[in-house]
Amino acid sequence: MTPMGKQDKIFEEGNLSGLPFTFNQEVTEVFEDMINRSVPGYRTSLRLITLFTKHYYQSDTTCYDIGCSLGASSLSMLQAKKDVKIIAIDNSEAMIEECKNRFQNLPQSQSIQFLQQDVMEAELDNASIIVLNYLIQFLDLEQRERLFDKIFSALLPGGILILSEKIHYKNSFESNRIFRTHHKFKSINGYSDLEISGKRDSLEGVLITEPEEDHFSRGARAGFKSSTKILSNLNFRTFIFCK
Ligand SMILES: C[S@@+](CC[C@H](N)C(=O)[O-])C[C@H]1O[C@@H](n2cnc3c(N)ncnc32)[C@H](O)[C@@H]1O
Repeated sequence: MTPMGKQDKIFEEGNLSGLPFTFNQEVTEVFEDMINRSVPGYRTSLRLITLFTKHYYQSDTTCYDIGCSLGASSLSMLQAKKDVKIIAIDNSEAMIEECKNRFQNLPQSQSIQFLQQDVMEAELDNASIIVLNYLIQFLDLEQRERLFDKIFSALLPGGILILSEKIHYKNSFESNRIFRTHHKFKSINGYSDLEISGKRDSLEGVLITEPEEDHFSRGARAGFKSSTKILSNLNFRTFIFCK
């Protein structure tokens, strides 16, 4: 896949529009740069998707990449096994169109189907791997609950949900400390204080974090027999939930 390589300068002048953050054309064009410079452990989360797909993929089943953006998680699954079949879902037209463009010349493009759809409307079934890489933080709490139930029903026995999320701590002192460290992480990656605060303002009420304990409880409520934290990088986590 050819990366677009455009640098994220969306909040160079702060949140000028005052509008909430959306995954529109402007964000799509800089998304790779944005996620790489903003999410500690992002690349590792993708490598873990490959590793866990190798181990847990069951032949003649479907893998889902929900909230696929530009398909990085789908690509990670494709790298794991030759015969994987993937359905990649995103409700952003700009994202799904660019994602399709990027995959069209890949030899494995026949193995992947792209759907522009809200995950709450999507039909999921016969799945051995479902990936939610930094998606549910954009859903409200009631939707998260329903989505976990839907995912649990769609997974076959032995199937897994791979979930990556930004989290906060229950303890506000710890949360503020990690929040400041994350701010430094973004500064080191070239974002100015104005850019960081501009993006934070635009994400207010759009990206809602939870403590990691809440993700474990939701997994248990949905019926998953085990849940494990497989990556912890500042205030970002990856978990697997096994059916
Ligand atoms: C942070 S990005 C995900 C990154 C991607 N999974 C990766 O590994 O590179 C979140 C994505 O979720 C999509 N999204 C947000 N709400 C959604 C919904 N209700 N249904 C489907 N996609 C959604 C956004 O359009 C965006 O592309």
